Amino acid sequence: MGALEEIKARVNIVDLLSRYIVLKPAGKNFKARCPFHPDDTPSLMVSPEKGLWHCFGCGAGGDALSFLMRIERLSFGEALAKLAQELGVEVRGGEGRSRLLQVNEEALRYFHKALLGPEGAKAREYLLSRGIGEALWERWGLGYAPPLWDGILRALSRFGVQTLMELGLAVAGERGPYDRFRDRVMFAIRDEQGRVVAFAGRAFEGEPKYLNTPNTPLFTKGTLLYGLDLAKDAIRRRGSCVVVEGYTDVISLHAAGIEEAVASMGTALTPDQARLLSRYTEEVVIAYDRDAAGEASALRGMVILRQAGLRVRVAALPEDEDPDSFVRKAGGEAMRAVLAQAQPFHQFFLSALASRYDLSTAEGKEAALREAQALWPEVTSPALRWELLTGLASLLRLPPEEVQEVLRGVSRPVSPAEQKKEQAEPVLTPEDWVVRFLLEGKIPEPVVSELLAEEARFSPPYREVVRRWAEARAAGECPAPGDLLVGVSPEAAAKAARVLLVDLRVTDEARAVEEALVRFLHLPRLEGRMEEVRRAIREAEARGDGEAVRRLSLEFQRLCRERLELLRRR
Ligand code: UTP
Ligand code: MN
Repeated sequence: MGALEEIKARVNIVDLLSRYIVLKPAGKNFKARCPFHPDDTPSLMVSPEKGLWHCFGCGAGGDALSFLMRIERLSFGEALAKLAQELGVEVRGGEGRSRLLQVNEEALRYFHKALLGPEGAKAREYLLSRGIGEALWERWGLGYAPPLWDGILRALSRFGVQTLMELGLAVAGERGPYDRFRDRVMFAIRDEQGRVVAFAGRAFEGEPKYLNTPNTPLFTKGTLLYGLDLAKDAIRRRGSCVVVEGYTDVISLHAAGIEEAVASMGTALTPDQARLLSRYTEEVVIAYDRDAAGEASALRGMVILRQAGLRVRVAALPEDEDPDSFVRKAGGEAMRAVLAQAQPFHQFFLSALASRYDLSTAEGKEAALREAQALWPEVTSPALRWELLTGLASLLRLPPEEVQEVLRGVSRPVSPAEQKKEQAEPVLTPEDWVVRFLLEGKIPEPVVSELLAEEARFSPPYREVVRRWAEARAAGECPAPGDLLVGVSPEAAAKAARVLLVDLRVTDEARAVEEALVRFLHLPRLEGRMEEVRRAIREAEARGDGEAVRRLSLEFQRLCRERLELLRRR
């Protein structure tokens, strides 16, 4: 029997699932609330007989392994390795992950040693000056990355450069690999089981303030919460969790006795993080900075947490304080008091509006409405919508019906916080991908001609750059990226520079190229043809030309199949 079959035969689906959800017997089967969507009625069914589970609410389902993959966010191999280990089954390949974890553990040891050594004096001083005393260093996996280009490369050379790059500890440079973290105070990022999956390094000065491990086989941004390993007992005990933004916030809160604190690590909370929390608690208090960006993230975070079925309140820290600075100044008691006064969702939102705008003026009311409008599509619960709507109407002294009209209407404006996020972490469109690959010469020859023939598909700024590139190529030159930006409009240069510089992080480049072409060129082209044929069918119908309708319908079906084929190829 192969390892997979043996695991499948030996795993008990009921035992496994009951580690994560409460199963209630229902005849031969079991029922539970589904952990993968907000579920009020138990809509997940487990059949021990068949070894399968299925949720009638959200459609998720599969066997024990797929449940484990989903709930722990593991790859197939990782889930297999985890089960194998528990069941005592030997598998090859499972050592991949544990080896990587071991390397990270060694990296932590290296950073920690540097913190304690002569080279770490500056970092030690820094931590102490921030009130993070020696007693906390080990517990929080703190360290120091010395200002070397090959510090960790040498210290961990026995694991191989490839592995260090895979873990984001080293970066591939033009003149060879070098240490990612240099002259930074290091924070180990651990998963909920306390395994070191990533690092963050804080600069003493300069940008970026925090440098984080990129996505690696062990770490995916937005899927874990900093400090959860050390907070989970307190979260369960208190029945509540405090979510803050930063590493230092978590460390200082824990030190002051608020041990149910975890951090979303700077980004807005993700649905994955919300689900992770919902496994430990039903109530969350958000304690973000009080600046505009903090308020906006708190709001977005609230909506996401609410959608994971959690009760949410928002704590209002004094202006210009974050939890770290506040708790160190005022102490744990004062912080507890702030947490106790945290406001529920709609109240928080409304008082935020009232403090930001002069609601006695028409301009103030309009600005407040615009903000509420931006939030509205994300508020899906009818009860919440009602609370927000009536609260807003009375705050603005406007009839609820009219407020509702405004909230429903018009397109969604982009908030400054969202713009900021976009700069920090660019979202690439299919067009971006295609331009990048094209300029890098990674698109196969026949497709290049197709693209150039359909130049109009590119947005005007990109069209300029693509045209320049095509001219240079036709002249037999091989233009360096920098040359392409000379003489094009500033807008085009900016767009091209961004797309050429952004870190792509693709594992399978050929596939990424294919995918980008499908989404940018092939699919839209096909859909354009489908639209034409659809129009022709309507015209033929109007003329009463049955023969043409039949012919065109066949053509339409063929295009549909072709489209399906394309989608399947991805
Ligand atoms: P803050 O800028 O509020 O930093 O970012 P902080 O936590 O108060 O840090 P200190 O106290 O100045 O050291 C909050 C969180 O956002 C993420 C980090 O997780 C940080 O803790 N962040 C911030 C980054 O990932 N990169 C950055 O450059 C800045
Ligand atoms: Mn801070």
